[in-house]
Amino acid sequence: MNKNVIGADHEFHDESFAQGWADRFVPTPERISLFNLILSEIQCTVKTDSCVVELGIGPGYLANHILSAMPNINYIGIDFSQPMLAIASKRLRQYSKRLALVWADLIHDNWQSNFNQPIHAVISTWALHDLGTQGNIFTVYDKSYQALTEGGIFLNGDFIKPDKTNHAFEGGRFETGKHIEMLNKIGFINPTCIELFEIEKNNPTPAQNYACLKAIKFVLVAKQAIHI
Ligand SMILES: C[S@@+](CC[C@H](N)C(=O)[O-])C[C@H]1O[C@@H](n2cnc3c(N)ncnc32)[C@H](O)[C@@H]1O
Repeated sequence: MNKNVIGADHEFHDESFAQGWADRFVPTPERISLFNLILSEIQCTVKTDSCVVELGIGPGYLANHILSAMPNINYIGIDFSQPMLAIASKRLRQYSKRLALVWADLIHDNWQSNFNQPIHAVISTWALHDLGTQGNIFTVYDKSYQALTEGGIFLNGDFIKPDKTNHAFEGGRFETGKHIEMLNKIGFINPTCIELFEIEKNNPTPAQNYACLKAIKFVLVAKQAIHI
């Protein structure tokens, strides 16, 4: 990664890199407020026994937060890194009856059509920017739309490029306006940026500047007979 570009290089398939990432990024209070925001949006939108899918579950910090607060939900965590899935599995052992871990590549695999139950929420934090390009993120937004049942919620808390910064950002970090444009194009209802976190335009680090994007899948309204 060019030193002047805000971003990071990762080796998520490497066991010691994955463990090092998990140790370095134990959630801070700011990140926990993002987890709480995602939790409250899920609680307001779906039933208590719903099924939640997390994209890029990593070490399982968000999953731990949601599974401990919602004792009746089922949870599916997807990642393409076997070392990360092993770390998540260890952390989430006590929830194993309500948890499935899926080894899949979010861009290339057909994960969105392989669920045997309706999916009420698709969530993610700090992961989709690692897909590298706006095109790849569009692909995964589209797959998320396909995975969701009608009325389901999509929440992505991820790194962005803040508006009006002079810094260059890696390809997967771009303005919230472009995320909203993509979500609209796919057919989501009312995509919005519900909160910004740790915004630093002048001297940003790769672990600052993230946003929570929210969108709802179209709800089918029952057709009514019209009597003239
Ligand atoms: C920066 S970590 C974030 C982990 C976790 N979401 C968190 O907030 O702590 C990004 C995660 O996304 C996963 N990931 C990146 N690209 C992926 C892809 N194409 N398919 C599946 N998982 C991917 C990585 O393996 C890694 O576990």
